Amino acid sequence: MSDRNRRNADPPPARLAKLPDLVVSWYRENRRRLPWREEVSPYRTLLSEIMLQQTRVEAVKPYFERFLAAFPDVSSLADADDELLCKRWEGLGYYSRARNLKKCAHEIVDRFGGVIPSTVPELLSLPGIGPYTAGAIAAFAYGRPVAAVDGNVLRVTARITAETGDVLSPAVKNKLTALVSSLVPADAASDFGQGLIELGALICLPNRPPKCELCPVSTLCRGYSEGIAERLPVRIKKTERKLDRRTVLVIRSGTRTLLRKRPARGLLAGLWEFPNYSGGFTEKEALDAVKALGFEPLRIRPLDPAKHLFTHIEWQMTGYLVLVAEPDFPLPEGCVMPETDDLLSRYAIPSAFSAYVRCLFAPIPQINQKEKRK
Ligand code: ADE
Repeated sequence: MSDRNRRNADPPPARLAKLPDLVVSWYRENRRRLPWREEVSPYRTLLSEIMLQQTRVEAVKPYFERFLAAFPDVSSLADADDELLCKRWEGLGYYSRARNLKKCAHEIVDRFGGVIPSTVPELLSLPGIGPYTAGAIAAFAYGRPVAAVDGNVLRVTARITAETGDVLSPAVKNKLTALVSSLVPADAASDFGQGLIELGALICLPNRPPKCELCPVSTLCRGYSEGIAERLPVRIKKTERKLDRRTVLVIRSGTRTLLRKRPARGLLAGLWEFPNYSGGFTEKEALDAVKALGFEPLRIRPLDPAKHLFTHIEWQMTGYLVLVAEPDFPLPEGCVMPETDDLLSRYAIPSAFSAYVRCLFAPIPQINQKEKRK
């Protein structure tokens, strides 16, 4: 929210009036000593916030000082040699951030005389700077009373307010951002903003039970009083994956295993696979499929179910290990039956099948001569 908009923000609910003071005092006592907090400047905040966009705090720490040593200010970053820039960024990943950072430095030199701007609208006009980063620079480096709302802050505030709407939706994000904006104390914007982030990192943890017993704001927290904090925030993922139930057959004769080449086009094109079929087969259906390939099944054993996520499809796999008699016929077209060593070293088998590759290392079930043929 821009500084101007903030003045029009609704007042915060009276129930949360004490929240800013509680967060700020807790942060001052409990914050982690991080390089970009011990010495603060707009450039250090810009750099650390871009690095922290997709990388964990612990991973950023060693890179931060090294990067600063190579590019100590905006103008050295604007003039950075691309090779050196990437080298100093190596390990942080997502190199587009480094390239955007250089572009951003360029624009700061060209448009703002080398001085990092302090208002949210100006910051938002720079490449690679979105609403969170703009708020963070304005509040943490310049002390402006604006909100900096990242995933941590959304989680913390969704729990405090027992927000059960989708935090990934613009409506809920805007609502929580407006709430934070209305709470920012004019004299402690940085400690409040970073305090909310720190609560999210140390107490109000993601995907784990929050440490409510240690939380400075548990008395104000509706998620806590309603016993639903751990279930919040609600996130409805946009990319719903199509569910595809499949049956995977690990067909073995002695220590050889049947592999089939996938079609040259489409999903996992040209890679090798265990024969697999649409649908969750019963043992009888699995045996029929083995026979249809020309094999004589001797024994069948169900394997643990497995799951694999592709971008738009989720495979839920039922597996069977089927021991078969030594084939005395040409293998079906596109199939091979290598020994395990060969299978591992010569055939590219996608990780979707890793659970079933692992089962090749389990002892082969003994076949009792008297056992009834399947
Ligand atoms: N994550 C994003 N910004 C951060 C900051 N300033 N301190 C700690 N973690 C962060």
